[in-house]
Amino acid sequence: MLSTAAEILAGGRAVAAFNVITLEYAQGIVAGAVARRSPVLLSVSHNAVRYHGSLAPIAAACLALADAADVPVGLHLDHCEDPALIEHAIDLGFGSVMIDASTLPYDDNVELTARVAELGRSRGVWVEAELGEIGGKDGAHAPGVRTDPAEAAEFVAATGVDGLAVAVGTSHAMTARDARPDVALIESLATAVPVPLVLHGSSGVPDAALAEAVAAGIRKVNVGTQLSVDYSDALRAGLADGKADPRAALTAARASIQSTVERLVGVITSVS
Ligand code: G3H
Ligand code: ZN
Repeated sequence: MLSTAAEILAGGRAVAAFNVITLEYAQGIVAGAVARRSPVLLSVSHNAVRYHGSLAPIAAACLALADAADVPVGLHLDHCEDPALIEHAIDLGFGSVMIDASTLPYDDNVELTARVAELGRSRGVWVEAELGEIGGKDGAHAPGVRTDPAEAAEFVAATGVDGLAVAVGTSHAMTARDARPDVALIESLATAVPVPLVLHGSSGVPDAALAEAVAAGIRKVNVGTQLSVDYSDALRAGLADGKADPRAALTAARASIQSTVERLVGVITSVS
């Protein structure tokens, strides 16, 4: 059933948010969540919207899958830099959005984030922001940056956001799984910050370290690249026979996403 990040997180348990690129990603993610009997968030990033050319078609597919599922499924707009796209996503039925102003100077990040948080409040939508830029995003790398707990508390108070993406040692788009989130920093942030903490770049984190991050206070775990690694591997293998019809390869790619989602949802929900 269609749900929202606010409803899912209200129970206090951590939730996984998986990035959707194509229909098969969304199908595999929902199938994995259903198999685990767990809520999940379908995350459509600004970059995915750029790929599709518009949000509405992939949003309609995600909404239909969420409606048909017998576990709570929320739609989340991820890493959005454009307030107009955020309004559009809300109009389409997204229950949560991320305004990513993390590359801006602190005061500008606060100003833009506060504006979007106010919009979210007026529309009943959960708003996530980022403080302390998490490396690895297109065009913006800040390796080594960490979110300061006192500044994070001040940022949340100044903006009124509902969730905060924190820089704790992960980086986006990692294909090696050797990132080590700073557990002590997550614990300090969880104590200082009154809203759910979000871990980005979770593909680079081994399962055991992911479990530790959740135990330390992470409540939303964002995974994208790991699904694309699986999807592309399965697709390459499936297309190797040279047949014209891609459906067998796409079926294998979708199944590989489902199996990774099942594993990661198991890791995340076993802790919180
Ligand atoms: O917002 C999306 C996530 O942070 C995904 O990061 O592709 O490195 O798993 P990832
Ligand atoms: Zn991210």
